[in-house]
Amino acid sequence: MMRAFVEHPCSAAWIAEESGRMAGFAIVGWSERGGESRAYIQTIEVAPEARRRGVGRELMRHIEESAQDAGGRSIWLHVEAGNAGAIKLYETQGYSCQGRKENFYPLGQAALIYSKKLDLIAATASDAASVNAANADRSARTR
Ligand SMILES: CC(C)(COP(=O)(O)OP(=O)(O)OC[C@H]1O[C@@H](n2cnc3c(N)ncnc32)[C@H](O)[C@@H]1OP(=O)(O)O)[C@@H](O)C(=O)NCCC(=O)NCCS
Repeated sequence: MMRAFVEHPCSAAWIAEESGRMAGFAIVGWSERGGESRAYIQTIEVAPEARRRGVGRELMRHIEESAQDAGGRSIWLHVEAGNAGAIKLYETQGYSCQGRKENFYPLGQAALIYSKKLDLIAATASDAASVNAANADRSARTR
């Protein structure tokens, strides 16, 4: 399933490394809806020993930048309703809950749907400085 996600032409995968070891990864896909390009976070995972050191936040930043570069206007995801850590990560990054789907996961757990408007990225207070730095870097690269 992961291979199919990664190899899909409308997807991107990010790997975080620490000292040459994989610390985490994320996969994002793109789709069109109502003439608007939307990004969907298929998965984001950080190795247990690397958690709470900002790897997840950094992966989210890369996902959002690549989605914006691809013309995406919004980004969304499903998260298990009881996954408090992931929900906290998304909420601190400016995502808001849009709904709930019962029995979404194979073992019957409910999912919450979170989304974020990508043009609001710069308004995420805690990330404002690093986003500005990333935008400067991106414009330098595209010049
Ligand atoms: C969710 C996950 C990706 C977070 O990755 P991480 O690298 O630990 O996250 P970060 O260190 O970047 O955390 C950023 C912020 O998110 C919040 N957060 C992350 N994990 C949290 C947890 N377990 N409990 C409470 N808040 C948490 C905090 O606000 C944190 O900031 P702080 O550390 O300054 O308080 C990671 O715990 C994980 O891989 N979990 C298992 C897989 C999973 O559930 N993936 C999500 C699928 S939808």
